[in-house]
Amino acid sequence: MRYKIGKDIVIRSENAAKPEAQSSAYLNRLISRLEPVRSSFDFGCGKLRYERVIAKTTDILGLVDSEVQFSRTQMIRGRLTTIRDHVRRSNHVEAYTVGQFASQAHRYDRGFCINVLSVIPSASVRLGIVQLIRAKLKPGATCLFVVLYRNSDFTRMQRLPNCQPYGNGFLMDSLRGHSFYGLIPPDELASLVNRAGFVVESTVLDEGTAYLWAKVPEDVRGPVHFSIRETPENFQIRAAP
Ligand SMILES: C[S@@+](CC[C@H](N)C(=O)[O-])C[C@H]1O[C@@H](n2cnc3c(N)ncnc32)[C@H](O)[C@@H]1O
Repeated sequence: MRYKIGKDIVIRSENAAKPEAQSSAYLNRLISRLEPVRSSFDFGCGKLRYERVIAKTTDILGLVDSEVQFSRTQMIRGRLTTIRDHVRRSNHVEAYTVGQFASQAHRYDRGFCINVLSVIPSASVRLGIVQLIRAKLKPGATCLFVVLYRNSDFTRMQRLPNCQPYGNGFLMDSLRGHSFYGLIPPDELASLVNRAGFVVESTVLDEGTAYLWAKVPEDVRGPVHFSIRETPENFQIRAAP
């Protein structure tokens, strides 16, 4: 997804995605031990780092990301392809842009939002995304939010000449364009998911990463309609009244 900052900075958050070979052993173990459910989504699925392990825990899997992430040619598990082509080969995995996901009537049993919130430079987009995720889950369903809250490399990186502070992190200008690196402290993550209508079930901190399970209450309240605008330069989401 792209985020426009000021007149000419465009953050290309699709570049932040890592391949399956760089997945976390901790997270793979955590996901593979989950009880199977009927339907799940991976919001901000990136280069499908956790697709295989999540797919084993669910009958139906919805992958959600930007059009640019789905349609660009990239290496997926050693094969040069696009995510759209990759997904076409499966009959229980589907790829949805955020707009397509928002307009679906289906409500899911479980969600994942892994290392997505920390790459979004806008606080209002972070809230809109978490509200949308809540709206797409059944009452009683859970979502795993994973964010970076500490990174020792950040102190060194922030001092580089091509870096500047921005929001809860910093912007870096490189050959691949601009990237945003943010940190979300665990208490801020908890307050964000609460504001979006979730109840926090548990939080585990491990090596600078927070793993938070949030549950949709049975008497769920909050927005169900969203105004979403995705362009090749920017993304906006707002809960509609
Ligand atoms: C750091 S990558 C993480 C990818 C994957 N979850 C993983 O852990 O490998 C962040 C991903 O979030 C996606 N993303 C950023 N903003 C988003 C938004 N508003 N809606 C959906 N996906 C978004 C980016 O396109 C990118 O693929």
